[in-house]
Amino acid sequence: MAKYNRKDHLHQRAKKEGLRSRAAYKLDEMQKQFRLLSKGHKVADLGCWPGGWLEVAAKFVGPTGRVVGVDRAEVDPPIPLANVTALVGDLEDVDIAARLTTVLGSGGGDGAEGRVERTLADVVLSDAAPKLTGVRETDRANEERLLEAIESLLPKLLAPGGSFVVKILEGPEAQEIDRRLRKSFERAKTVKLQSTRKGSTERYLVARGFQGPEKE
Ligand SMILES: C[S@@+](CC[C@H](N)C(=O)[O-])C[C@H]1O[C@@H](n2cnc3c(N)ncnc32)[C@H](O)[C@@H]1O
Repeated sequence: MAKYNRKDHLHQRAKKEGLRSRAAYKLDEMQKQFRLLSKGHKVADLGCWPGGWLEVAAKFVGPTGRVVGVDRAEVDPPIPLANVTALVGDLEDVDIAARLTTVLGSGGGDGAEGRVERTLADVVLSDAAPKLTGVRETDRANEERLLEAIESLLPKLLAPGGSFVVKILEGPEAQEIDRRLRKSFERAKTVKLQSTRKGSTERYLVARGFQGPEKE
């Protein structure tokens, strides 16, 4: 189930509260600040394992909303809520947007049964991060590749007017993608969260009002 690597205050608190990850506090913090998630929203969570954000998102969208996540790793045990589905897959898979929007369009399950109806997300969340190798150039190249995969998914996944949250790590390539992403939204802000571990370079881009990729 949950993995707790470092014994900081939030790690301990998450364990005590039975959360799947300390990352759950990050989404909670952004929700308090930006009110991204509302009842009935359809949400896609990219890089969702072990499922902390899935549970937080499910709480805010309620039973009339729908949350679908994807990760290379299986969310285990599964989240026992009818409106939450975690897919196993890679953000670079060619069919990943179709799989996610099929689940958002379905009443429940993994969308494999019955009529196929695709629905775009009101909110796309991404806490995805590449596995660090310790080699700076490699880590930056992996982060760039991941962000590019996420960027190319947006038009196929996010509804016009929708909101987007993405984790951005250090590096000039990542900053360039950050600048590019902003152009597809009416407004955007980069935030450094209190719940981020001390010393981490991570930031989150919080963008509202998706306008499609071609706006300059
Ligand atoms: C920090 S964890 C996410 C934690 C999650 N938000 C939570 O609250 O439990 C980042 C995840 O991104 C996933 N990831 C990284 N690259 C990926 C890719 N290309 N496709 C799918 N998942 C990926 C990793 O497997 C990892 O589980």
